[in-house]
Amino acid sequence: MIVYLNGRFLPREEAKISPEDRGFLFADAIYEVVRYGAGRPYRLAEHLARMREGLTAISIPVEPSFFPEVAGRLVEENGLGSEDALVYAQVSRGAAARSHAFPPRGTPPTVFAFARRTDPPPPPGGGRAIVLPDERWGRCDLKTVMLLANVLASQQARVANAVEAILVRDGIAWEGTKANLFAVSKGIVRTAPRGPRILPGVTRGAALEAAAGLGIPVEERPITVDELFSAEEVFLASTTLWTYSLVEIDGRRIGDGRPGPVAARIRDVLQAEFQG
Ligand code: PDD
Repeated sequence: MIVYLNGRFLPREEAKISPEDRGFLFADAIYEVVRYGAGRPYRLAEHLARMREGLTAISIPVEPSFFPEVAGRLVEENGLGSEDALVYAQVSRGAAARSHAFPPRGTPPTVFAFARRTDPPPPPGGGRAIVLPDERWGRCDLKTVMLLANVLASQQARVANAVEAILVRDGIAWEGTKANLFAVSKGIVRTAPRGPRILPGVTRGAALEAAAGLGIPVEERPITVDELFSAEEVFLASTTLWTYSLVEIDGRRIGDGRPGPVAARIRDVLQAEFQG
């Protein structure tokens, strides 16, 4: 596997990062995950805009314009040019003696990226989820690598034999640990509005557009836990999943217990767009 690190393409085994890297010590870093099919990215402009907003918000002076060329070369060099692949890129504030406030001006940021084949899709019959308290920080809209709360919730889901944990705060089901959350109630597609409690997912945006294009009414409004359990359909949306139906939450059946038509119709639109 060839990876990218600070301006160089090199075998993964040779890519070395300082133990004093602030990504490692403080999770002081922004990341992005983009899907590539047959060498072409899906909604790259949106991913780069989000990365730029994240880097600006935490004052890391890096322009994500490095991404397209680096990603294209990683896809090629790793033999993924005709595959369904993911490109991961991470930018940290660089390596410096441990001190909480920013390092000396001029400390070079660490830019790391790799490409790999996408995981096989989850079972088509839909998945089970559990509900957990949302213990994340107050800026979930920034795609930082500070994912410990997501990691712990995701592991709890795995132990419970579930595909995802739905994170709840103040009675609102905000999103999953690695995907946005949608519910269909009385034929209306709902998802939480943009704001500090959710990541503004690229797939979320595409799914809202797709639903509107299909003539399905959409509403960006918080989904209460009660609404979740009484929904006709619940589904996740992310770069890795497209849309994915949840058919059971905390042991309770959602709708008729089978993947619903709205998630499938939206997924078809997104995949058709991806395949061009
Ligand atoms: N996760 N919400 C959270 C918390 C996420 O981590 C993600 C993506 C999403 C969906 O965003 P998008 O549609 O832009 O992929 C929502 C990525 C894939 C990850 O962490 O691997």
